[in-house]
Amino acid sequence: MSYIDQINKEKIPAHVAIIMDGNGRWAKSHAKMRLSGHQEGAKSVKRAIEVCGELGIKYLTVYAFSTENWNRPHTEVNGLMNLLANSIDKEFDEIHRNKIRIRIIGQIDKLPPNLQKKLKVVIDKTKDNDALNFIIALSYSGRWDIINAVKNIATDCSDNRISPDMIDDSLFEKYLSTNEIPDPELLIRTSGEERISNFLLYQLAYSELYFTDTLWPDFSKEDFYKAIINYQHRERRFGQTSEQLT
Ligand code: IPE
Ligand code: IPE
Ligand code: MG
Repeated sequence: MSYIDQINKEKIPAHVAIIMDGNGRWAKSHAKMRLSGHQEGAKSVKRAIEVCGELGIKYLTVYAFSTENWNRPHTEVNGLMNLLANSIDKEFDEIHRNKIRIRIIGQIDKLPPNLQKKLKVVIDKTKDNDALNFIIALSYSGRWDIINAVKNIATDCSDNRISPDMIDDSLFEKYLSTNEIPDPELLIRTSGEERISNFLLYQLAYSELYFTDTLWPDFSKEDFYKAIINYQHRERRFGQTSEQLT
Protein backbone atom coordinates (compact mmCIF):
# COMPACT_ATOMS: atom_id res chain seq x y z
CA MET A 1 0.00 0.00 0.00
CA SER A 2 1.40 3.38 -0.93
CA TYR A 3 1.89 6.00 1.79
CA ILE A 4 -0.94 8.23 0.65
CA ASP A 5 -3.41 5.34 0.98
CA GLN A 6 -2.37 4.86 4.59
CA ILE A 7 -3.43 8.39 5.53
CA ASN A 8 -6.61 8.67 7.58
CA LYS A 9 -8.58 11.46 5.88
CA GLU A 10 -10.54 12.05 9.11
CA LYS A 11 -7.40 12.88 11.10
CA ILE A 12 -5.65 15.47 8.97
CA PRO A 13 -3.89 18.15 11.06
CA ALA A 14 -5.23 21.65 10.46
CA HIS A 15 -1.81 23.22 10.83
CA VAL A 16 1.62 21.81 10.00
CA ALA A 17 4.77 23.81 10.76
CA ILE A 18 8.12 22.95 9.17
CA ILE A 19 11.69 23.84 10.09
CA MET A 20 13.21 23.44 6.65
CA ASP A 21 16.77 22.51 7.51
CA GLY A 22 19.71 20.98 5.67
CA ASN A 23 20.00 23.05 2.50
CA GLY A 24 23.68 23.78 3.18
CA ARG A 25 24.56 20.14 3.82
CA TRP A 26 22.64 19.11 0.71
CA ALA A 27 24.72 21.56 -1.35
CA LYS A 28 27.96 20.35 0.21
CA SER A 29 27.17 16.72 -0.52
CA HIS A 30 26.52 17.66 -4.18
CA ALA A 31 29.70 19.79 -4.34
CA LYS A 32 27.62 22.91 -4.95
CA MET A 33 27.41 26.40 -3.43
CA ARG A 34 25.13 26.82 -0.42
CA LEU A 35 22.77 28.95 -2.47
CA SER A 36 22.09 26.00 -4.80
CA GLY A 37 20.88 24.15 -1.73
CA HIS A 38 18.45 26.96 -0.96
CA GLN A 39 17.27 26.99 -4.58
CA GLU A 40 16.66 23.25 -4.45
CA GLY A 41 14.89 23.77 -1.11
CA ALA A 42 12.45 26.14 -2.80
CA LYS A 43 11.24 23.18 -4.90
CA SER A 44 10.51 21.26 -1.71
CA VAL A 45 8.38 24.18 -0.50
CA LYS A 46 6.34 23.89 -3.68
CA ARG A 47 5.83 20.16 -3.11
CA ALA A 48 4.82 20.73 0.50
CA ILE A 49 2.19 23.26 -0.61
CA GLU A 50 0.86 20.70 -3.10
CA VAL A 51 0.58 18.06 -0.38
CA CYS A 52 -1.43 20.49 1.78
CA GLY A 53 -3.81 20.95 -1.14
CA GLU A 54 -4.16 17.20 -1.68
CA LEU A 55 -4.79 16.41 1.98
CA GLY A 56 -6.81 19.48 2.95
CA ILE A 57 -4.29 20.89 5.44
CA LYS A 58 -5.51 24.46 6.02
CA TYR A 59 -2.37 26.07 7.47
CA LEU A 60 1.27 25.51 6.51
CA THR A 61 3.95 27.53 8.29
CA VAL A 62 7.51 27.32 7.04
CA TYR A 63 10.55 28.66 8.87
CA ALA A 64 12.39 30.35 6.03
CA PHE A 65 14.73 32.71 7.87
CA SER A 66 15.36 33.16 11.57
CA THR A 67 16.49 36.30 13.37
CA GLU A 68 19.75 34.46 14.03
CA ASN A 69 20.22 33.78 10.31
CA TRP A 70 21.06 37.49 9.86
CA ASN A 71 24.46 36.51 11.31
CA ARG A 72 25.32 34.38 8.26
CA PRO A 73 27.77 35.70 5.65
CA HIS A 74 26.34 38.65 3.69
CA THR A 75 26.51 36.78 0.40
CA GLU A 76 24.30 34.01 1.73
CA VAL A 77 21.83 36.44 3.34
CA ASN A 78 21.59 38.47 0.11
CA GLY A 79 21.23 35.29 -1.92
CA LEU A 80 18.36 34.13 0.30
CA MET A 81 16.58 37.50 0.10
CA ASN A 82 16.88 37.51 -3.69
CA LEU A 83 15.71 33.91 -3.90
CA LEU A 84 12.63 34.83 -1.89
CA ALA A 85 11.82 37.80 -4.07
CA ASN A 86 12.34 35.75 -7.25
CA SER A 87 10.27 32.83 -5.97
CA ILE A 88 7.38 35.17 -5.22
CA ASP A 89 7.55 36.63 -8.74
CA LYS A 90 7.74 33.18 -10.30
CA GLU A 91 5.08 31.42 -8.23
CA PHE A 92 2.59 34.19 -7.46
CA ASP A 93 0.12 33.53 -10.31
CA GLU A 94 -0.16 29.85 -9.49
CA ILE A 95 -0.46 30.55 -5.76
CA HIS A 96 -3.25 33.05 -6.35
CA ARG A 97 -5.03 30.75 -8.84
CA ASN A 98 -4.97 28.00 -6.21
CA LYS A 99 -6.65 30.34 -3.71
CA ILE A 100 -3.69 30.32 -1.35
CA ARG A 101 -3.45 33.12 1.19
CA ILE A 102 0.08 34.28 1.94
CA ARG A 103 0.95 35.56 5.39
CA ILE A 104 4.28 36.59 6.84
CA ILE A 105 5.27 36.37 10.49
CA GLY A 106 8.43 37.99 11.80
CA GLN A 107 10.22 41.32 11.83
CA ILE A 108 9.19 42.38 8.35
CA ASP A 109 10.71 45.85 8.83
CA LYS A 110 14.19 44.29 8.98
CA LEU A 111 13.88 42.91 5.41
CA PRO A 112 15.26 44.75 2.35
CA PRO A 113 12.77 47.47 1.28
CA ASN A 114 12.10 45.93 -2.17
CA LEU A 115 11.21 42.60 -0.58
CA GLN A 116 8.99 44.32 2.02
CA LYS A 117 7.13 46.05 -0.80
CA LYS A 118 6.65 42.81 -2.72
CA LEU A 119 5.43 40.99 0.37
CA LYS A 120 2.90 43.71 1.22
CA VAL A 121 1.46 43.41 -2.29
CA VAL A 122 1.09 39.61 -2.20
CA ILE A 123 -0.32 39.64 1.34
CA ASP A 124 -2.93 42.15 0.25
CA LYS A 125 -3.75 40.49 -3.08
CA THR A 126 -4.27 37.07 -1.49
CA LYS A 127 -6.08 38.20 1.67
CA ASP A 128 -9.47 36.85 0.60
CA ASN A 129 -8.15 33.47 -0.59
CA ASP A 130 -9.52 30.63 1.49
CA ALA A 131 -7.87 27.37 0.38
CA LEU A 132 -4.51 27.11 2.16
CA ASN A 133 -2.98 29.66 4.53
CA PHE A 134 0.68 29.67 3.61
CA ILE A 135 2.58 31.35 6.43
CA ILE A 136 6.24 32.25 5.92
CA ALA A 137 8.30 32.89 9.04
CA LEU A 138 10.82 35.49 7.93
CA SER A 139 13.28 37.22 10.20
CA TYR A 140 11.31 35.34 12.82
CA SER A 141 12.19 34.48 16.38
CA GLY A 142 9.88 32.92 18.94
CA ARG A 143 11.30 35.08 21.71
CA TRP A 144 10.78 38.21 19.62
CA ASP A 145 7.15 37.17 19.05
CA ILE A 146 6.52 36.77 22.79
CA ILE A 147 8.39 39.94 23.79
CA ASN A 148 6.61 41.94 21.11
CA ALA A 149 3.27 40.70 22.44
CA VAL A 150 4.27 41.66 25.98
CA LYS A 151 5.29 45.15 24.84
CA ASN A 152 1.99 45.75 23.07
CA ILE A 153 0.01 44.40 26.01
CA ALA A 154 1.94 46.73 28.35
CA THR A 155 1.19 49.69 26.07
CA ASP A 156 -2.51 48.80 25.91
CA CYS A 157 -2.59 48.46 29.71
CA SER A 158 -0.95 51.83 30.29
CA ASP A 159 -3.31 53.44 27.75
CA ASN A 160 -6.25 51.82 29.60
CA ARG A 161 -7.42 49.83 26.57
CA ILE A 162 -7.14 46.65 28.63
CA SER A 163 -6.49 45.91 32.29
CA PRO A 164 -3.96 43.40 33.68
CA ASP A 165 -6.70 41.11 35.02
CA MET A 166 -7.93 40.59 31.45
CA ILE A 167 -4.65 38.91 30.45
CA ASP A 168 -5.17 35.19 29.85
CA ASP A 169 -4.25 32.66 27.13
CA SER A 170 -6.82 33.86 24.68
CA LEU A 171 -5.97 37.55 25.05
CA PHE A 172 -2.22 36.87 24.91
CA GLU A 173 -2.59 34.86 21.70
CA LYS A 174 -4.25 37.83 20.01
CA TYR A 175 -1.03 39.80 20.48
CA LEU A 176 1.18 37.13 18.90
CA SER A 177 2.07 37.28 15.20
CA THR A 178 -0.02 34.11 14.76
CA ASN A 179 -3.25 35.81 15.87
CA GLU A 180 -6.23 33.80 14.56
CA ILE A 181 -3.98 30.97 13.35
CA PRO A 182 -4.54 27.72 15.30
CA ASP A 183 -1.49 26.17 17.00
CA PRO A 184 0.33 23.60 14.85
CA GLU A 185 -0.66 20.02 15.65
CA LEU A 186 2.51 18.83 13.95
CA LEU A 187 6.03 20.24 13.69
CA ILE A 188 8.41 18.67 11.19
CA ARG A 189 12.16 19.33 11.24
CA THR A 190 14.38 17.91 8.53
CA SER A 191 18.13 17.23 8.43
CA GLY A 192 18.48 15.29 11.69
CA GLU A 193 18.73 18.28 14.03
CA GLU A 194 16.43 17.90 17.00
CA ARG A 195 15.85 21.41 18.32
CA ILE A 196 13.36 24.25 17.99
CA SER A 197 15.90 26.97 17.04
CA ASN A 198 13.73 29.82 18.33
CA PHE A 199 10.71 28.93 16.18
CA LEU A 200 7.14 29.17 17.49
CA LEU A 201 8.01 28.88 21.19
CA TYR A 202 4.55 29.66 22.57
CA GLN A 203 2.53 28.03 19.81
CA LEU A 204 4.36 24.67 19.87
CA ALA A 205 3.39 23.97 23.51
CA TYR A 206 1.43 20.83 22.58
CA SER A 207 2.56 20.12 19.02
CA GLU A 208 3.70 16.65 18.04
CA LEU A 209 7.37 16.85 17.02
CA TYR A 210 8.60 14.84 14.06
CA PHE A 211 12.28 14.69 13.14
CA THR A 212 13.70 13.14 10.01
CA ASP A 213 17.28 12.80 8.77
CA THR A 214 16.18 13.71 5.24
CA LEU A 215 17.68 17.03 4.13
CA TRP A 216 15.09 19.64 3.15
CA PRO A 217 15.91 19.66 -0.61
CA ASP A 218 15.35 15.87 -0.63
CA PHE A 219 12.06 16.09 1.31
CA SER A 220 9.57 14.49 -1.06
CA LYS A 221 5.79 14.23 -1.06
CA GLU A 222 6.22 10.67 0.21
CA ASP A 223 8.30 11.99 3.12
CA PHE A 224 5.52 14.41 3.97
CA TYR A 225 2.90 11.61 3.83
CA LYS A 226 5.11 9.52 6.14
CA ALA A 227 5.23 12.36 8.68
CA ILE A 228 1.43 12.66 8.59
CA ILE A 229 0.99 8.90 9.08
CA ASN A 230 3.42 8.97 11.99
CA TYR A 231 1.46 11.87 13.53
CA GLN A 232 -1.81 10.00 13.11
CA HIS A 233 -0.49 7.12 15.20
CA ARG A 234 0.36 9.32 18.18
CA GLU A 235 -1.89 9.57 21.20
CA ARG A 236 -2.33 13.24 22.08
CA ARG A 237 -3.19 13.26 25.76
CA PHE A 238 -2.90 16.94 26.73
CA GLY A 239 -2.09 15.94 30.28
CA GLN A 240 -4.93 13.47 30.67
CA THR A 241 -4.59 9.72 31.05
CA SER A 242 -5.00 7.32 28.17
CA GLU A 243 -8.20 5.93 29.75
CA GLN A 244 -9.79 9.36 29.92
CA LEU A 245 -9.49 9.75 26.18
CA THR A 246 -11.54 6.71 25.28
C1 IPE B 1 18.00 25.78 6.18
O1 IPE B 1 19.14 25.18 5.69
C2 IPE B 1 17.69 27.09 5.49
C3 IPE B 1 17.93 28.28 6.32
C4 IPE B 1 18.29 28.29 7.56
C5 IPE B 1 17.79 29.56 5.66
P1 IPE B 1 20.58 25.55 6.25
O2 IPE B 1 21.13 26.63 5.41
O3 IPE B 1 20.52 25.81 7.71
O4 IPE B 1 21.35 24.19 5.96
P2 IPE B 1 22.46 23.50 6.88
O5 IPE B 1 21.88 23.36 8.26
O6 IPE B 1 23.65 24.41 6.85
O7 IPE B 1 22.70 22.18 6.23
C1 IPE C 1 16.60 27.13 11.66
O1 IPE C 1 17.66 26.53 11.00
C2 IPE C 1 16.08 28.27 10.88
C3 IPE C 1 15.48 27.93 9.59
C4 IPE C 1 15.26 26.74 9.13
C5 IPE C 1 15.07 29.06 8.81
P1 IPE C 1 19.18 26.86 11.35
O2 IPE C 1 20.00 25.97 10.52
O3 IPE C 1 19.42 28.31 11.25
O4 IPE C 1 19.21 26.46 12.90
P2 IPE C 1 20.43 26.01 13.82
O5 IPE C 1 21.47 27.09 13.74
O6 IPE C 1 20.96 24.71 13.29
O7 IPE C 1 19.83 25.85 15.17
MG1 MG D 1 20.68 24.60 9.32
